[in-house]
Amino acid sequence: MNLNLPPVGLGTMGIEDPEPIATALGVGYRHLDTARIYGNEAVVGEGLAASDVDRTDVTVATKLWIDALAGDDVESTARESADLLGIDRIDLLYVHRPRGAYDPETTLPALDRLVDAGVVGAVGVSNFEVDDLERAREVLDAPIAAHQTELHPLYHRPELLEHAREHGYPIVAYSPLAGGRVGEVDPVCEVAENHGTTPEAVAIAWATAKEPVVTIPKASTERHLRANLAAAEIELDPEEIAAIDAVDREEELYPE
Ligand SMILES: NC(=O)c1ccc[n+]([C@@H]2O[C@H](COP(=O)([O-])OP(=O)(O)OC[C@H]3O[C@@H](n4cnc5c(N)ncnc54)[C@H](OP(=O)(O)O)[C@@H]3O)[C@@H](O)[C@H]2O)c1
Repeated sequence: MNLNLPPVGLGTMGIEDPEPIATALGVGYRHLDTARIYGNEAVVGEGLAASDVDRTDVTVATKLWIDALAGDDVESTARESADLLGIDRIDLLYVHRPRGAYDPETTLPALDRLVDAGVVGAVGVSNFEVDDLERAREVLDAPIAAHQTELHPLYHRPELLEHAREHGYPIVAYSPLAGGRVGEVDPVCEVAENHGTTPEAVAIAWATAKEPVVTIPKASTERHLRANLAAAEIELDPEEIAAIDAVDREEELYPE
């Protein structure tokens, strides 16, 4: 399924108030990312319900945590998430991590059944490595609709981008602002100065310049929400992109 995700969606981890969700939709966001483990699906649902934006124009994504991945638990947990979000169908449901109760042979067929039942629009995976992706491709009937993985100037994943390109699904870059630390990265700051903008905007422009990457920065103020949405319009030149590509720090924020 082609989700047609916009270059900038909203990461909601840590948002515990519906207001920034509704504000985000009001200023143009059309992709909301949450997860059962964030404990805020009901908050995201309240923000969605409070907004004037047509529900069908928004991609709502959530994730099954590693304790809910046994084949018998997938359906009940997904239905609970839909109820908490106040929606009939989860547009994109991810396996949060291939850990805990994850078993490709039972977890993935249970997700396929949810797609067949119309409870889930598309199946995504998150924090997979190439061998996990290959196994999932073998077992799933549904195509992998998206791979959500950590990606920012301090942590590059070229092998995952390559796999996504080869198999035609988007990479959803999480923590694209390195959790708010991109201002510590000299080449990012230099490029920001060239463009008269912020390191955060450059981090988003750098990620979205890569095929097939979209981003989900978390922001809770209207100023940040608007700035992040506008950042995808910034065009970096190839030398600027190469300077950030050359940052070799491999600082993963969310290791196992
Ligand atoms: N799949 C996974 O395992 C996984 C793991 C981690 C995260 N995620 C997803 O990715 C999303 C984003 O990741 P993240 O929350 O770790 O970090 P992030 O998006 O890299 O950074 C968020 C931080 O940057 C600040 N910020 C946002 N816009 C800014 C701007 N324009 N200028 C300056 N500061 C700005 C935010 O502050 P304010 O809130 O004050 O605006 C917040 O402190 C999460 O919300 C979640 O949806 C997924």
